[in-house]
Amino acid sequence: MTLASVCGLLLLCVHFYFVDADNIFDGSSSHSVQRRDTNTKRNYTDVVATRFTVSPTWYLNVGDTIVINCTTHSDKGNYGDKMDLLLTWTKMSPGERTKKVLVRQRASESPISYVLGPVTHEHQGVYSCNGDGSFPDVYVRDWHQMIWVADASPRASIDVISHNRSQFFHNEMFTVSCQLPDDNTQWKMMRHINWLGDLTECPNQVSSGRRLSCTVRSGHPWSDQLFWCENPAGERSNVLNVTTTVVMIALDIPRLPVLEGEDVTLRCVHRNRTTGEISYNFEAFFYKNGRVTWHDYNGLITLEAVTKADEGLYRCKNTMREQSHDSWLTVKARPEADQKEKKDDVIKTA
Ligand SMILES: *[C@@H]1O[C@H](CO)[C@@H](O)[C@H](O)[C@H]1NC(C)=O
Ligand SMILES: *[C@@H]1O[C@H](CO)[C@@H](O)[C@H](O)[C@H]1NC(C)=O
Ligand SMILES: *[C@@H]1O[C@H](CO)[C@@H](O)[C@H](O)[C@H]1NC(C)=O
Ligand SMILES: *[C@@H]1O[C@H](CO)[C@@H](O)[C@H](O)[C@H]1NC(C)=O
Ligand SMILES: *[C@@H]1O[C@H](CO)[C@@H](O)[C@H](O)[C@H]1NC(C)=O
Repeated sequence: MTLASVCGLLLLCVHFYFVDADNIFDGSSSHSVQRRDTNTKRNYTDVVATRFTVSPTWYLNVGDTIVINCTTHSDKGNYGDKMDLLLTWTKMSPGERTKKVLVRQRASESPISYVLGPVTHEHQGVYSCNGDGSFPDVYVRDWHQMIWVADASPRASIDVISHNRSQFFHNEMFTVSCQLPDDNTQWKMMRHINWLGDLTECPNQVSSGRRLSCTVRSGHPWSDQLFWCENPAGERSNVLNVTTTVVMIALDIPRLPVLEGEDVTLRCVHRNRTTGEISYNFEAFFYKNGRVTWHDYNGLITLEAVTKADEGLYRCKNTMREQSHDSWLTVKARPEADQKEKKDDVIKTA
């Protein structure tokens, strides 16, 4: 299958799925995503999908260099070629969130290929591939991607997510919570939804002591939501990526790093597409790094006293051959007694 047909197919699928999903689950969340998507019902003369790649990854360290590519695919192939394609950047720094055009180029020319780096924290933000709006009867599906540059040792941390999952089914509620280093009430939980390309405060935040929490619903299929906490001085926590899956199987797996020596339970979760009911305890196969490694009649396995060797990509599959996406398990060394000794040595030698 060509790239073009995947893009075309994706648009159709997304549209179809939304209509379907809203009929099943009361549609109580009238996100702007939905409002926006009803646009596809209008009589556009063409639909242009932008396609955006960031290689090798969006999660960077200071000094990394990446290549951002931005191309279009048009269903009918008429207008897509006549419009300009823009690569824009919305800065991450609080107070500086203005959109800047980095490249403007006729879509019919070669794709935009933009080298970013070596990066500093200054380069962070939302990068988008947009049409220029010169053909109002052409629907342009923008594409947004957050570029994150990791901090050496953030003082705040996202350390709780109500479920042991980073993949959610459409319209599920979950809570994310940050541990803050101080009582300063200016810390905010922030959220980026890739479908919308926005950087906004997480709605309905609840603050209690040094803990800041936010409860939201998962987005639409294929949408990623990133969460982090920040203060006006520009300090931030780590970042948490939560995706909404289009498949009806997900894997319960600790989303945040677990400590060496802990027992970790992985459960396969299924959602009934018709009733929306969540179920566990069905026969399932578990994969590690792409290979079937376990089978369990109750859809549950426990990795006892995990070590670094347990790190990897996990997924599960039911007997109907429906399978989840891969999730990464991270195992962290214990910061205790034995480790402390080593640290003391380091401090002494420093
Ligand atoms: C779209 O086109 C169809 C057929 O030409 C027409 O019946 C309908 O009213 C149009 N809808 C809009 C929103 O323009
Ligand atoms: C990005 O575009 C450049 C130039 O057209 C190309 O060489 C490269 O393979 C593209 N990268 C990806 C990931 O598509
Ligand atoms: C979040 O995770 C998904 C699945 O691992 C990945 O495809 C996606 O690129 C990540 N999100 C962002 C914003 O990069
Ligand atoms: C998540 O997994 C960890 C480790 O397996 C477990 O201790 C914890 O209770 C789980 N949390 C939830 C909400 O299921
Ligand atoms: C979904 O639920 C309905 C009603 O309980 C049931 O008939 C159907 O078999 C279920 N589908 C799956 C895939 O489990």
